[in-house]
Amino acid sequence: MSKTYITTAIPYVNGAPHIGHAMDYCLADVYARHRRLLGDEVRLQAGVDEHGNKIFQKAQELGMPVEEYVAENARKFRDFIEKLGVSYTDFIRTTDLEHEKRCQEIWRRLSDHIYKAKYEGWYCSGCERFITQKEYDENSGICPDHQKPYEKLVEENYYLRIADFKDQIRAAIESDEMLVLPEFRKKEVLKLLEESPDVSVSRSTEQLTWGVPVPGDETQVMYVWIDALSNYITILGYPDVDISDWWPAAAQFVGKDILRFHAIIWPAMLIGLGLPLPKTLISHGFVLADGQKMSKSIGNVVDPIEVLDKHGLDAFRYYFLRHVDTFNDSDFTWEKFEKAYNNELANDLGNLVQRLATMAYKNGVKLDTEPSFGFDVEYTGLMDKFEFSRAFDYVWEKVQNVNKRIDDEKPWMLAKNGETEKLQECLKSLIVELLNVNYMLSPFIPNTTEKIFEVFTGEIEPPKTPLFPKQ
Ligand code: MSP
Repeated sequence: MSKTYITTAIPYVNGAPHIGHAMDYCLADVYARHRRLLGDEVRLQAGVDEHGNKIFQKAQELGMPVEEYVAENARKFRDFIEKLGVSYTDFIRTTDLEHEKRCQEIWRRLSDHIYKAKYEGWYCSGCERFITQKEYDENSGICPDHQKPYEKLVEENYYLRIADFKDQIRAAIESDEMLVLPEFRKKEVLKLLEESPDVSVSRSTEQLTWGVPVPGDETQVMYVWIDALSNYITILGYPDVDISDWWPAAAQFVGKDILRFHAIIWPAMLIGLGLPLPKTLISHGFVLADGQKMSKSIGNVVDPIEVLDKHGLDAFRYYFLRHVDTFNDSDFTWEKFEKAYNNELANDLGNLVQRLATMAYKNGVKLDTEPSFGFDVEYTGLMDKFEFSRAFDYVWEKVQNVNKRIDDEKPWMLAKNGETEKLQECLKSLIVELLNVNYMLSPFIPNTTEKIFEVFTGEIEPPKTPLFPKQ
């Protein structure tokens, strides 16, 4: 049995989850379920990023002890992941003591590539990122993502010598040893890599105390990204445990805004530690609200819990995995969501199950043997390339084909004409086809597919309530 390790970005806990956060989880979960169907043993990591300025400041604004604040929000994220039906196996909080200790050991092991120098430049606490003068000038001193002026920093801190690793990282990306998807992002990161200076990896405790202490220097804590990126291996037990069964990860899912950290700093750390690079870095697009970035100040943030409570888990997963493109930005609007729910989930799939099960029930149809399932080549090809929204489109066409077959073959006419044997064969063959489509749908909408499987195996009975009641 092969072992597959899959990771998700760990969100900052400076607020409650929003619908954008669902993307990493949904995509990683689809891949995890797909690999399990293929027989792999899968570990799927999730967690929260609890250090850094942004979080510390937020807790202070609220007048809350920071430990309490992060604990409260970490709980919200964990609840959210559960509600999304994510089949995670590991959950990390970066304030876990074990994690902090392991980060310090990672730091020690990287020390040959770390040096101290004075940093004089810009910082964006929204991005938790050091900003080059070039970027500062291009953006006229204001972060386009957070609409906040960059902060001036003058402090002594530690640097990771990216120059030591550039050639190896470039070669790994160019040769696809570390496959960066989609292709257009690969070009972007190669350019960023060329321009990347050495990276500051600590902050002075005069500025920030809410971080993992740098070993052997009380005046410094680790830059939040060093601590955060390490989570992918500390959760496996590194460096206390041999992680070679699981590492390198088969797939690491990240948003487009944080690909740069995963394609430059993270590989540099791994090479410095003598560890292999992840096999694939998948960068997804953003969920927009009516074409606009979601932000609290615009007031267009959509609460994922509201969507989940109103329409249910699989309706949520359906929209975010099919209508939100895997690699590009896509829109969420209630109108689009409800249209997809009614026209596609309720009509195409819900009605299909209802009418096929009703006909089978009325005519005493039962499958003689448990059918065996398989993927077809096209589906597997798309799933292997992480083209999940396209794979979902592809399977949906198959759902529509079953509907079309019913319309063409008109089993009710066979019943009317008393062609019992033909009718039995026709319905059985439709059910087997639907169950095979159902199998391919199962990584996407697992609860629904489990119900459909139950309806059509053993004694067939139509569901008492529709799978997707019209809204
Ligand atoms: N803490 C870092 C990640 C550290 S990973 C070692 C971080 N946190 S975040 O909360 O800002 O973002 C978490 C994830 O959510 C990222 O993958 C980010 O791209 C994703 N998204 C945040 N807003 C999003 C949308 N509106 N749409 C889709 N994904 C978005 O970055």
